[in-house]
Amino acid sequence: MAFNFDSCPERAGTDSTKWHKYPNKYPNKDIIPCWIADMDFMSPPAVIDAVQARAAHGVFGYPAQRDGVFASVVNHVRRRHGWEINPEWVTFMCSLVPGIHATIRAASKPGESVVTTAPVYPPFLSAPVISERHPIKLEMVFVDGRWTFDWAALEAACAQPHTKVLLLCNPYNPLARVFDRTELDRLAALVRKHDLTVCSDEIHCDLVLDPAAKHLVFAALGEDIAARTVTLMAASKTFNIAGLTCGFAIIPDAGLRTRFRRVLQGLSLDQNMFGLVATQAAFDHGEAWRLECVDYLRGNVDLIEAELKGMPGVVLRQRPQSSFLAWFDVTALGFEDPHAEFEQGGIGFSNGADFGGPGHVRLNFGCPRERLREILRRMKAVVARAPGRRS
Ligand SMILES: Cc1ncc(COP(=O)(O)O)c(C=O)c1O
Repeated sequence: MAFNFDSCPERAGTDSTKWHKYPNKYPNKDIIPCWIADMDFMSPPAVIDAVQARAAHGVFGYPAQRDGVFASVVNHVRRRHGWEINPEWVTFMCSLVPGIHATIRAASKPGESVVTTAPVYPPFLSAPVISERHPIKLEMVFVDGRWTFDWAALEAACAQPHTKVLLLCNPYNPLARVFDRTELDRLAALVRKHDLTVCSDEIHCDLVLDPAAKHLVFAALGEDIAARTVTLMAASKTFNIAGLTCGFAIIPDAGLRTRFRRVLQGLSLDQNMFGLVATQAAFDHGEAWRLECVDYLRGNVDLIEAELKGMPGVVLRQRPQSSFLAWFDVTALGFEDPHAEFEQGGIGFSNGADFGGPGHVRLNFGCPRERLREILRRMKAVVARAPGRRS
């Protein structure tokens, strides 16, 4: 290994959202935060060097989006995902959540319907409501050993006359699915048939852990599909640079792109200067680090699977295929508020209820193995005192 994922700098006291939460909430309690989706690893050396060099310049006026950063994005998307894009299709933003909102507003009117699935990254549930659209929330289903769409429900939802937008999380947070060609083709046929716009959030696409899975860009399924899709991507999850606030939308259709940009106009949602520098460095020079990171995360999944064997009542239905997130069904433990129980046991998971999945918790395993081992040890202790275990 050329990079060290086993030891990380202390993050407590470094203005980290993840690490700031517990000293604030329980000042005297030792809780390991494993909730919000950033990793505890240092970014690739090439990224750190680029940011330090930019900082050393000492002048931090408004940044320009130089040709170089567009070329990095174009090359990255081609090299990693085989999709040929035009730099003009790219819109940089400070983060991807505004891109979800902007797609909804660009492609529908108040009162029209937006289809989303659950459990899911919470803004997928709140964005339609905030924009005064009617949300149609469908449950993901576990069939033949994997999480997938409820096709009959999806067809019915897409067929409703007021449905205009489908929100797709690809790969899927929190179920960590990497959808295959058959599933995506089926989705493509549905949105084509019912003339829908798709917001395909692909922020997790460069962390595919399952060697048998391959990320497929939804928009790359066909020119007509590209024309009705807003693809959201960023280097932020993969290279752990979320705090540098930079993501981008890829929108091939000129009309949709203009409407999308108009929604964002005037809201000052431009990306950060350091975000551009870091994104470019990550895409151009981060590949060796990315590969090792994926390998390390796979090792973390192996550890989780091994330890869960000793935790009856904690169900990980499918081995995570992507990212650093594991979705546990803990209903069988019989806790009224499982998230709070785990907090009392020293573990700061994401609360499944926030994702539309009560009775579940989400583990962020983007951390050194020893820390993960300690999280799993604490989990075992909580499981051992669960009421469901005694009945
Ligand atoms: C699917 C998905 N989209 C978007 C985001 C957030 O992206 P950003 O910080 O760029 O808004 C996350 C963060 O966890 C995510 O999982």
